[in-house]
Amino acid sequence: MTVAVSRTQAFPPYELLDVEDPLAASTSFDATVARAQAKTRKLERLYHQTQAHAWNPTQVLDELEAKHGGIHLAEEKREAVGELFSVILWGELAAWNIAADLARELPDLEAKMAATGQVFDEARHFTVLRDYMKRAGVRVPPLNPYGRKVLLRIIETDSLMEKLYGMQLLVENMALSIFKRVAASGVEPVLSELLVYIERDESRHVALGVLHLPAMVSKATALERARNLKFNLELFALTVLGGQYLDPYLRTLGVDHRELGHTSLRLHQQVLKEMSSEMGLAPGEHVRGIYSLAKWQQRLLLDWLHPEKPIEQLAPVHQATLRWFDRGVRRAAKWMATS
Ligand SMILES: [Fe+2]
Ligand SMILES: [Fe+2]
Repeated sequence: MTVAVSRTQAFPPYELLDVEDPLAASTSFDATVARAQAKTRKLERLYHQTQAHAWNPTQVLDELEAKHGGIHLAEEKREAVGELFSVILWGELAAWNIAADLARELPDLEAKMAATGQVFDEARHFTVLRDYMKRAGVRVPPLNPYGRKVLLRIIETDSLMEKLYGMQLLVENMALSIFKRVAASGVEPVLSELLVYIERDESRHVALGVLHLPAMVSKATALERARNLKFNLELFALTVLGGQYLDPYLRTLGVDHRELGHTSLRLHQQVLKEMSSEMGLAPGEHVRGIYSLAKWQQRLLLDWLHPEKPIEQLAPVHQATLRWFDRGVRRAAKWMATS
């Protein structure tokens, strides 16, 4: 494998000993230098924040259980919690593995440190959610085929840019949106409070992508950027299909799917805006190689997939296409699970 050969040749990476002052490299203080210096500080801070805000998963779970007098999860919601949290739980394990890959492969010292901090966070999230499901008596079913495909694509890609985009920006953002909506739906008080702890950690992981991806995108060739865009679109399509697969479970949990979609699209746009500013692009200028939906496209997608009106009150064509889409998603899931 070419990666192994280059890894051997590239070890040790002596350049990690270089303590570079971005100001020293320039004769004048300009915006690019200031941005590079600020980015380095922010990335390094992510690592220190991980340590400063570390929490003990067993202790927090014990305390929350004591505070609420145990876990009170309605019997009729257990299956739906299992289906939704199967994606989250295995997503945490995937994030754990991917963060370890990033800690090993990222060439930049501060980004390496931030990814190392993330390894600890994701280990904590996987453990605490696994323990919560056990204590709540929730059986976690096998991961649905769409969620599995998304995670496998990110685990298996050799491209660091795709890995960083897929995990830090797409999956982390989806997870953040789900946590916000599940907590807002008040499914179970211990879970709602636990998700706030996890959510705080996850926002640091999105920040790693926002801070480091611009440097990768600007160094990438046109072909690499085109490949990344194709990868982004594939993952986006899979998350839309996976979202539809989970729709009945979200309904059972009282999670507003339209609101969830809206939160997720809004977070993605916010991240793109932050990336543009990290790259020093003019307001409204698009980051090349990263997919982005215009406001009207987001609205169209939400209005078609998750209309405000109940399905019975929609135009017959809209009802028919939605039912056809839902049947297709479920049939394809069965086929994917057995093939
Ligand atoms: Fe996590
Ligand atoms: Fe994360």
